[in-house]
Amino acid sequence: MDSFKKFDGMDYANTFARRISVMHELVRDVLSRQIRKGDEVIDIGGGPGMGARIIDELGIETTVINIEPSTTINDVPQLSFVKYIPIKMSLKEALNARIPSANCFLMVSSEHEIALCNGRTPVENKKEFFQDMFEFIRKNLKKNGCLVIGFPNYRKGASEIEISRQRKFTESLMGHSHPPEEFFTVEEFFTVEEFSAAFGIHPDVFNQKPMTLADEKPEETILRANVAVFKIKNPGELKN
Ligand SMILES: C[S@@+](CC[C@H](N)C(=O)[O-])C[C@H]1O[C@@H](n2cnc3c(N)ncnc32)[C@H](O)[C@@H]1O
Repeated sequence: MDSFKKFDGMDYANTFARRISVMHELVRDVLSRQIRKGDEVIDIGGGPGMGARIIDELGIETTVINIEPSTTINDVPQLSFVKYIPIKMSLKEALNARIPSANCFLMVSSEHEIALCNGRTPVENKKEFFQDMFEFIRKNLKKNGCLVIGFPNYRKGASEIEISRQRKFTESLMGHSHPPEEFFTVEEFFTVEEFSAAFGIHPDVFNQKPMTLADEKPEETILRANVAVFKIKNPGELKN
């Protein structure tokens, strides 16, 4: 099943997004330093325009293109500063579409969902994800552009028991199903090391915070919200 179908019909902005507000705060903080007036941003898997909402709240006049395949894209935000262009398609479909270029790509909590759409093992899914990302970067990222990537994962060294407990807690709150327990491996989530190895560079910025979904204390969660910024000098020459 395409993993985006699980977001179809969801009032994402008022439910799921509120649970992952720690992630959005971390991303907002980084965007406030990275984005300038006049920038063009492509939000890959932006749901109901989450990237556009965050940048609008920061009051930065930009154009934000949202590439989003689920029906959450029909929830169009009211914006004052951002020119918003929603495009209902998956990353794979976008590879064959004419999309305006941008000087920033944003991806927040969508990387592992996009990879899951490839429908194989986590390692194979990620390999294909990076192939698609590289192609998209070569086609659509301007010179000296940047990638702002927000992604969840588990605390390093978390035990299987802790991960299983966290998964059950996440599902009970979000009603959100990753691959069933028997197919799950910890590799489903991305790490900053994987992004660095794929792009062959260190991030310019990397911040991490415990991600609480309800009223847990930060020490009670093994979930982590991460945000990394990678600057790509010559996107057209990026090789995988
Ligand atoms: C957890 S939500 C994150 C939404 C938003 N970026 C945010 O910050 O809250 C994951 C998003 O990835 C989208 N997605 C899943 N598969 C995708 C694909 N193949 N291409 C683009 N987006 C995809 C889903 O539809 C969903 O909106």
